[in-house]
Amino acid sequence: MPNAIPDMPSFSPTAVIGAALPRIDGPLKTTGSAQYASDYHFPGMVHAVPVCSTIANGKIRSLDVTRAQSMPGVVLILHHGNIAPLFRMAPGGHGGRTSEARPPFEDETVSYWGQYVALVVAETYEQAVAGAAAVQVQYDEEKPNVTTVLNDANPTVHTESKRGNTETAFPSAPIKVDETYVTPAETHNPMEMHATVATWDGKSFILYETSQGVVNHQHVMAETLGVPRENVQIITRFLGSGFGGKLFPWPHSALAAVTARQLNRPVKLVVSRKMMFTDVGHRPRTQQQMRIGATPDGKLVSLEQHYRNHTSLTDDIRENCGEATPFLYSVPNLQVTSALVRRNVGTPTPMRGPGAVPGLFALESAMDELAIKLNMDPVELRLKNDTLTDESSGKPFSSRHYKECLQTGAEKFGWAKRNSKIGSMRKGDVILGWGVAGASWGAFRGAAQTVVALKDDGTARVSCGTQDVGTGTYTVFAQVVSDRTGIPVNKIQVVLGDSSLVPGPTSGGSTATATVLPAIADAADNAVKVALTTAVKPASSPFAGKDPTTLSMTGGKVHIKTQPPETGVPYESLLKMANVAAANGEGQSGPMGAKAQEYSTHSFGAQFVEVEWDPGIARLRVSRVVTVIDGGRIINRITATNQIAGAVVMGVGMGLLEQTIYDQRNGIPINGNFADYLVSTCADMPKIDVTFLDHPDPVLGEYGARGIGEIGLAGVAPAITAAVYHATGVRVRELPVRIEDLLTSTITV
Ligand code: MOS
Repeated sequence: MPNAIPDMPSFSPTAVIGAALPRIDGPLKTTGSAQYASDYHFPGMVHAVPVCSTIANGKIRSLDVTRAQSMPGVVLILHHGNIAPLFRMAPGGHGGRTSEARPPFEDETVSYWGQYVALVVAETYEQAVAGAAAVQVQYDEEKPNVTTVLNDANPTVHTESKRGNTETAFPSAPIKVDETYVTPAETHNPMEMHATVATWDGKSFILYETSQGVVNHQHVMAETLGVPRENVQIITRFLGSGFGGKLFPWPHSALAAVTARQLNRPVKLVVSRKMMFTDVGHRPRTQQQMRIGATPDGKLVSLEQHYRNHTSLTDDIRENCGEATPFLYSVPNLQVTSALVRRNVGTPTPMRGPGAVPGLFALESAMDELAIKLNMDPVELRLKNDTLTDESSGKPFSSRHYKECLQTGAEKFGWAKRNSKIGSMRKGDVILGWGVAGASWGAFRGAAQTVVALKDDGTARVSCGTQDVGTGTYTVFAQVVSDRTGIPVNKIQVVLGDSSLVPGPTSGGSTATATVLPAIADAADNAVKVALTTAVKPASSPFAGKDPTTLSMTGGKVHIKTQPPETGVPYESLLKMANVAAANGEGQSGPMGAKAQEYSTHSFGAQFVEVEWDPGIARLRVSRVVTVIDGGRIINRITATNQIAGAVVMGVGMGLLEQTIYDQRNGIPINGNFADYLVSTCADMPKIDVTFLDHPDPVLGEYGARGIGEIGLAGVAPAITAAVYHATGVRVRELPVRIEDLLTSTITV
């Protein structure tokens, strides 16, 4: 195995770790009994509906609520003129990260279409909608700037990474690629829309939220609302996904909360699908110039990436397109720069694989173009420039098997049968295109606490203030408790999605698994120790008076270490004898330690894509994807495969369908609905073959698991455009691939 680390801890895999275990929360979801944020109802609850701006740039001249106020059922209308006293913002800024720097209705400026300018609260949802429509707003409008070309003059340029000297290395390189790649604004479209149901009891808030981070949400809201943290509780038991859009609080949450306090009534605010396109973030548009210089035999000598992304007028959101560029390949001369340009759009936010995913579209597309110039196989080109050292930091990778991803993928896909000549491969009367691209995403861990209770009824409970986005967090946590205690998974209760639990991490950056698993293992081990100590206490116990360190617990039975587990006694019987309701253990994990800091930690992958192009009717389909993921140890084969397959489906959308289109005249996202914003559906889904290499990461935590929420999307789009080029001879450098782009193809069947 490459890159072995001498003092690698020993792994002790058991049957439950790596098992193909269905989601333990699946029955609740499929029977409709899982409660999502907007499913909560309370007596006396009122409904809040935002009024959205109908201009994208300008100022509110007047806002007349007279008519709305007299409408049936309307109880409150908030706007710039009356909201200030409702916020009791604590001094010293936020205790966490927010999505938008500015509080709602802060002034009369409008900087994007659909911006909240007022909030109407009424007895029923219908009355609130009618009231919102009756608020009369007049604007002083200026022409908005939603120009898609990001060539603004003289933006501030930041150097993100630099080594060697590209200024001399690129011009003198024998083979050069110098192209610009564009990815559009994309909007998160989880099934579940953002929502807040806020309650206030005169002292404390409970907010039922769609949050990828209940603890961060609590910290932000406590400061926004000017109350101590213990007076804000955030509940997110289930999420209908988020894709990053729900990482940090958006203004609707604070609006619902201040309304609940003002009226002393529960308030429900559901962000509509239309508002999802303007008020709760998006992946910003990127424009990336790539320059690669190479020797004639395919060794990289110079690599440059100069990217820009759009951001809003009020926040500086950088889409980190150079996430993978500095370390994916060996190259002595490198430079990555970034710049922001402002547009009249809502504030962007992370979306699955932020930065890396659009960045790899550019890098891996340029690598494919280089392979063609070199007349070299694109897999071969990548293998040739592989490295086991992160050349941006000089650190070795903790575990990098990119080469194996490419080789395994090539074998599974049948890459050896590829004829590189454009349009040369046929299946019946369609043309086949085969493309490949690499994938990468960072691997990190943070801090978490957990509590494990082994109960006297033979069940166990594990709790943590984190949440399950739908990815399988509930299930993998139960697996770890089962692994440490031998208690079967169906007797383990997992409690998440509540900020009043011991603090857990945000479900973001594919870090939650690596962060929490060590803390659960720690808590479970401590709970077992407590159970053993308890087992020696009662006089009726067969272990009475023994030294607890001579005992072990196997398969839920306490026994003498030197004797077989079958001789033991179920731990719950011993707890009952001792009159103890539960053996409780606390556990914690921290960010990567000093040892881990000596390594560069990332996941890798390879995407192999087949497209079918029917030039007779101009039909393009992605027909087959082989994806190989080096994501550390896999804890659950079903949930992990779902994550990657789902990301590949999203990648088909990124390649062929997804784009938020802003009307150039008025800044309206004209496809801001589920019918016109196309995401891939079952009918678009190719045959997907997911393979995990399953090499545990030796520095990230004792199970060696890295996150896999995002890596599956990386590399799909550039593999699609490479396959499209192979089929049609048309190189598409601006996503998504449109049929219009392919009509210039001269290939016929
Ligand atoms: Mo992910 S974009 O960190 O939800």
